[in-house]
Amino acid sequence: MRPLWIGTGFKMTKTRAQAVAYARRLRADLDPGVAGVRPFVLPPATALAEVSEVLDGGPVLTGAQNAHWEDEGAWTGELSVPQVADAGARVVEIGHSERREHFGETDETVRLKARATLRHGLVPLVCCGEDAAVFAAGGSVDHVLRQVHAALDGLPEGPDGLGRVLVAYEPIWAIGERGRPPRPEEVADVHAALAAVWGDRVAAILYGGSVTTDNAADLLHIPGVGGLFVGRAAWDVEGYLRLLDIARQRVGAMT
Ligand code: PGA
Repeated sequence: MRPLWIGTGFKMTKTRAQAVAYARRLRADLDPGVAGVRPFVLPPATALAEVSEVLDGGPVLTGAQNAHWEDEGAWTGELSVPQVADAGARVVEIGHSERREHFGETDETVRLKARATLRHGLVPLVCCGEDAAVFAAGGSVDHVLRQVHAALDGLPEGPDGLGRVLVAYEPIWAIGERGRPPRPEEVADVHAALAAVWGDRVAAILYGGSVTTDNAADLLHIPGVGGLFVGRAAWDVEGYLRLLDIARQRVGAMT
């Protein structure tokens, strides 16, 4: 059975001290029985190196919330994949809807960043998802398939290519304070469509957007869902540990 990937991105929250305290607590309290669950944490870039040191050698991967497609050069304010790798990143989040909306991320830059991430041996976490208008018009499946095709078409199959990619389906209408938790049946069609095209080719397809300890178990039951990508509900380490436990129980029930 493939592992369930359960990750959190801190977005623009936490000082270095707060992120390190979180990582220390996670390291100390993580149930050694998390076999079958692959945890990952994406702190702010300022805390990435220290958090990676704290978690080094344990089961939790760390990663960056963004990285540029070029290795170096005149790109003021950006960090490259080799730079975030040097700070300990094993995962690179790409194309979150907040970056697409506010920072000009496009299908093309997502594609370039996914390639750069693979080229350097890291795990691309490619985010996709439709807004409320597309959802209301019944266009979710087409929209999301198009985004993921744009990001991943042409990548080689196998362990150094698609086999290392994570896809996170995060409907924009479900993300953050302004979002609402989905009913599982509202996101099942997209997961079925993604699984049909990409399920056997990528490492896992995750669900994200208003995941909580109340709905995580139901979301993990949706066919094709291979993990969860969580914001607010995992920013408190207790919440993240509870979510990891829910995933562990799900793995236990499946094996
Ligand atoms: P949320 O964020 O869990 O706080 O809704 C999810 C995300 O943006 O990845």
